[in-house]
Amino acid sequence: MKTLILKIDKKNPERKKILLAANIIRKGGLVAFPTETVYGLGADALNPKAVKKIYEVKRRPFDNPLIVHIARKKDLFRLARSVPKEVKILIRNFWPGPLTLILKASKIVPKVTTAGLDTIAIRMPNHKVALDLIKACGKPIAAPSANLSGRPSPTLAQHVIQDLYGKIDLILDAGPTDIGVESTVLDLSSPTPQILRPGGITFEKLKKVLKDLVVHPVAIGKKTTILAKSPGLKHKHYAPKAKMIVVEGKNRIKKIKELAMKNIYEGKKIGILAISKQLNTLKKNCIVKFFGKNKSLKLVAKNLFKLLRELDEEKVDLIIAEGVEDTGLGLAIMNRLRKAAGYKIIN
Ligand code: TXA
Ligand code: MG
Repeated sequence: MKTLILKIDKKNPERKKILLAANIIRKGGLVAFPTETVYGLGADALNPKAVKKIYEVKRRPFDNPLIVHIARKKDLFRLARSVPKEVKILIRNFWPGPLTLILKASKIVPKVTTAGLDTIAIRMPNHKVALDLIKACGKPIAAPSANLSGRPSPTLAQHVIQDLYGKIDLILDAGPTDIGVESTVLDLSSPTPQILRPGGITFEKLKKVLKDLVVHPVAIGKKTTILAKSPGLKHKHYAPKAKMIVVEGKNRIKKIKELAMKNIYEGKKIGILAISKQLNTLKKNCIVKFFGKNKSLKLVAKNLFKLLRELDEEKVDLIIAEGVEDTGLGLAIMNRLRKAAGYKIIN
């Protein structure tokens, strides 16, 4: 299949390009499009044949449900039933934005979209291209991240090209995504709201509007014997090709340097994902990638998946990543890092 790639203006998306993309989706095709978190791979959420193609091209397990994207808040009430009272305040505060709500699904939602569950994941993205596209389709759009299953999520159109070129109809390229980690998945289908996947909206922000809020143990990203409630979280995820270790805690700089030196002596090619400037000294012997110019968690989140892909391209044998604290955006970052490392953590 030939994949068309179109640059599109992030702030003022060209109408012609939006209509072309919407037409593809209406006819049952697949379009990769930008959101504020990562690029999504979109299909008509109400067309089972089109949704099935998403699983096939991503090589995604069929038991891992998709997020349905909408452009008007009121569409939530067509897709969900028995909507709990917390929804109102949540969508007033956080939509459009990186918050996905898990609710009981209504009858119009095909089983393949929810992977056979009786719940549905819904979000309203905060990106003009995504919103215009959904409106022009006149349909909700089912979209997982536009990567091959198990690869880091795409934050640039280039990443989508790496994974899906030749397999999908169109890629809309609006440049780098802002947030860089995916949306927060919040389960509202059981009595106490529960974060299943930490993401762009932090625990602390949600806690301001929700009296009761818990974080599912799997969401923290540490190894646990408790079963994941979000099917996606039990699968291998965000894995770079190289072996990876995350080093956390107070003495992490010293430990990273020791670990790097030990592995260099063993003849290995080492990549370092660094935040602290003290790791600059490793540049002589390792490929050191800094998340950003300063220690802001926003920059770490924004650059995380891109740097994982870059280190893979360098064909390093081992990636050593500097950890951050589990607060604010740090929870989402550590969830991704720990899982990318297959839970190999030093602290
Ligand atoms: O930011 C995002 O959320 C991006 C952009 C494209 O919107 N999308 C994204 O989709 O990250 P995906 O498919 O990569 O991740 C969706 C997550 C998976 O962990 C999946 O298991 C979970 O949401 N999920 C979807 N439906 C669910 C449901 N009914 N119950 C529990 N978890 C669900
Ligand atoms: Mg994904």
